Amino acid sequence: MTTFKQIGVIGSGAMGRGIAQLFASAGVEVLLHDSRSEAIEQALMHNRESLERAAAKGKISADVLAVTLERMRAAHTLQELAGCDLLIEAIVENLDAKQKLFRELEQLVSRDAVLASNTSSLSITLIASACEHPQRVAGFHFFNPVTLMKIVEVVRGERTATQVIERLSALAQHAGHFAAVTPDSPGFLVNHAGRAYGPEALRILAEGIATPAQIDRILRDCLGFRMGPFELFDLVGLDISHAVMESIHDQFYQDPRYTPSSLVPARLAAGLLGRKTGQGFYRYEEGRVVEDARVELPPVAINQPFWLDCRDAAMRDKIGAVLSSAGAVLEQGEQPGSNAICLVTPLGEDASSAIARRQLPVARSLALETFAGFDRRRVLMRHPGLDANVLAQARQALGADGVPVEVINDSPGFIAQRVLASIVNLGCEIAQRRIVDPATLDRAVQLALGYPHGPLGFGDQYGAMNIQQILQALHDCYQEPRYRLSPWLRRRVQLGLPLTTAEESA
Ligand code: NAI
Repeated sequence: MTTFKQIGVIGSGAMGRGIAQLFASAGVEVLLHDSRSEAIEQALMHNRESLERAAAKGKISADVLAVTLERMRAAHTLQELAGCDLLIEAIVENLDAKQKLFRELEQLVSRDAVLASNTSSLSITLIASACEHPQRVAGFHFFNPVTLMKIVEVVRGERTATQVIERLSALAQHAGHFAAVTPDSPGFLVNHAGRAYGPEALRILAEGIATPAQIDRILRDCLGFRMGPFELFDLVGLDISHAVMESIHDQFYQDPRYTPSSLVPARLAAGLLGRKTGQGFYRYEEGRVVEDARVELPPVAINQPFWLDCRDAAMRDKIGAVLSSAGAVLEQGEQPGSNAICLVTPLGEDASSAIARRQLPVARSLALETFAGFDRRRVLMRHPGLDANVLAQARQALGADGVPVEVINDSPGFIAQRVLASIVNLGCEIAQRRIVDPATLDRAVQLALGYPHGPLGFGDQYGAMNIQQILQALHDCYQEPRYRLSPWLRRRVQLGLPLTTAEESA
């Protein structure tokens, strides 16, 4: 059983009602409060309907339904929470409002009651600084929807007592949630780790490399993400996502690693917030994306041989087979023939750099992504000097087996490589800052963000040395500290260790 006997939840909106249902289902008495009485009733009604649905589907018994509903009650005044030994705040995201509430609660509850905040962006230490006993204050950051997202960040403010963290973690585990204990660091753990996927996609968009729909398709098919970054922006709301980006960037004193996108403010001013306004990066009608009309490309004659700059024999065979199904010939010579279409397969480099380094004929050379997702979606990268008919032949030949082909503009690391490398590098930085241990980082990111791997596991899956090469190429291309290598990554590559290798704290 849990060490808490009665939980008071303050704020009965989307998060408060979910938290109440989670703990009532786990066997704890919960009192639900809100400054608006109707919000309490709505939350109780919402939870009743949700539990009744679960009972109708046979997920819980009628007895469990009845006792769970009995455990959730309304508290119309704050005073009714006086007997609670845990108070979880889920009110409006405003520091003054939260500090005022915590001061009032301290006057009301017993000396050893724990005060927790569900804030997603405010410093727990700052909230606690308004309290007489900051050691009893911690963050308890759930994700929406609370009962389905089986993770909570248990945030240790600078003065939080260890026992408080342990009790909250035990309670979360008892309710079936993974408790990721994190320090009071900007974005805590999950919102910090999430600052690579969307922001790097916005950077790719800002450079005119590809459209939002292309970027989404490539990241879903080539790296296995369930949702593309632009679909996600539209779902969450660009206003919400941008506020998180700005807040984390500010809290890290404008570290360029976290620079938000300058594309966003105008989109916000235009009301392009996503699903909730009917238009974001996509347009919606009755909740569904309005697809752009598909443009069918006229077939072209494939009348030039191909030459491939790729030393991986298995990949050469695969590409050769696709080309041959298109009726094209793959040359085997060390140097391309005088008429050959030259395919380079860079890791990290952009097409221009790879072509210049190999001194290949500019008009007849382009880049093909072979590092990530060749079997599900092909990505060809053009450059300003490419002949249009060469591109048309390459596009047609490389899609001859039915795998869709995307054509993007020149980019160091195509799309998948650079987004992957950015996620891994940021994960390494989080590990380097000792925000959490590698196992907690990877598990939390998978649970909270739904990534197919955690950032460090992703790096090991694709090879830490490859990730380092991609980052170095990005850094060389842009000469920006945004792409600087995390020491955690560099050291593990130097020592031949997995990125998940933990390290002692000082
Ligand atoms: P919401 O707007 O759905 O609900 C907030 C509720 O708090 C409202 O019913 C409001 O009447 C009530 N309230 C406001 N000030 C109050 C006060 N002083 N005393 C009592 N009740 C008060 O908001 P939501 O989405 O549930 O968020 C609540 C908190 O959880 C915020 O701090 C938010 O940042 C955080 N959070 C939200 C997530 C989300 O996805 N919505 C995810 C994780 C954290």
